[in-house]
Amino acid sequence: MDYLEIKGGKKLKGEVVISGAKNAALPLLTSTLLSKTPVHISNIPDVADVKTLLQLLQNLGAKQTFENNKAIVDTSGVNSTCANYDIVRKMRASILTLGPLLTRFGHCEVSLPGGCAIGQRPIDLHLKALEQMGAVIDIRQGYIVATAPKALKGANILFDKITVTGSENIIMAAALAHGTSVLSNVAKEPEVVQLCEILNASGVPIKGIGTDELEIEGSCGKLLNFVDISVIPDRIEAGTYLCAGAITNSTITIKNVLSEHLKALLSKLAAMGFGIEKTSDSVTITPCGTILPVDIETIEYPGFPTDMQAQFMALCTQAEGTSLIDERLFENRFMHVSELSRMGADIKLTSHTATVYGATKLTGADVMATDLRASSALVLAALVAQGKTRIHRIYHLDRGYENLEGKLSLLGADIKRLSE
Ligand code: UD1
Repeated sequence: MDYLEIKGGKKLKGEVVISGAKNAALPLLTSTLLSKTPVHISNIPDVADVKTLLQLLQNLGAKQTFENNKAIVDTSGVNSTCANYDIVRKMRASILTLGPLLTRFGHCEVSLPGGCAIGQRPIDLHLKALEQMGAVIDIRQGYIVATAPKALKGANILFDKITVTGSENIIMAAALAHGTSVLSNVAKEPEVVQLCEILNASGVPIKGIGTDELEIEGSCGKLLNFVDISVIPDRIEAGTYLCAGAITNSTITIKNVLSEHLKALLSKLAAMGFGIEKTSDSVTITPCGTILPVDIETIEYPGFPTDMQAQFMALCTQAEGTSLIDERLFENRFMHVSELSRMGADIKLTSHTATVYGATKLTGADVMATDLRASSALVLAALVAQGKTRIHRIYHLDRGYENLEGKLSLLGADIKRLSE
């Protein structure tokens, strides 16, 4: 198994090009199940989760190529509607096949994703919304067995809670449904917005894109003529590199980004004292004299993203003062606390709040990656820790960061991928 070895204490410098967003690429890839013709998608990050999803589509009978961050996916030959446990257990986002398969074929069997390191993560809201559209859903032997004997029908759906993949699943289901759906309390994450824009440009009239209420006119079962897609930049990868600049108090520029997707992060970095300069497709972070503590509450977009909570916690260990980090979305998303503590961080946990006492001297240690974003927090901590840090189980990082060690090396970090 691979691990990362990082020698801390080096200043970073230079530019890093941000990849396409994993969380936008995944729903866009499953949306190809709604297309009549092959779909061309560029700026796809070359990460393990994308490959897992491409494998799943292939298992269903799709044909595809994936080279140089471009995929061509042809789902015209799909002849299976079963997303099996072996793939779904590797990646929860496989649940994004549920809406498209059901709306296209009128039946499907998708393995239940189960719990994961950051909490229970139920999918009850996906299922309830599909039932409102006329689906009959049964749970059998760990599988969601869904049928829509008379096809899915447009419906008025109010999500009890804001859910990103739940919104995406139902948007895709509504795209081929019979009649108009009105979805309320929809997630407004940029990844959801891009999915809507692509479906809208591919022949599904959608009103209210970018707001929390969508009106979607279904195609009555007709497959769509998809436009070419270029995946939006990854705002979480972008934020992680900005934190790398911040924690090492260096000047770095991230390129190929949309700064309007980064507002919540940039305002926190500015509040901590860092300089921020923006152009139309780049952001530069510059050092500050004293890193100030900051309070953070994770919340749905456009609020502060839960996917950046762990990285900011690593950064707060270097602030001159005490920061409060409140995790509002996932009940168990503090797995990185014990690993950061092994590196010398001083963090106290009470319920969903972490109190981070700053100005700690971190030291290198052997640490274990526990989930995708928790792992990147360990990388950030290692960049300033004294001595060598070895981060094990980095398959978590490979799920979502393209060429992490290559990009950090280019910025001047001392980082190597080695085998146990
Ligand atoms: C997506 C992102 C993930 C991010 C999360 C929150 C993808 C592939 N993953 O995950 O990186 O951390 O959004 O921004 O895009 N909930 C329910 N019932 C449901 C669905 C969700 O109670 O049916 C709850 C969850 O437990 C959680 C909250 O709603 O507390 C938000 O979860 P959700 O937005 O669904 O997260 P994901 O879509 O799984």
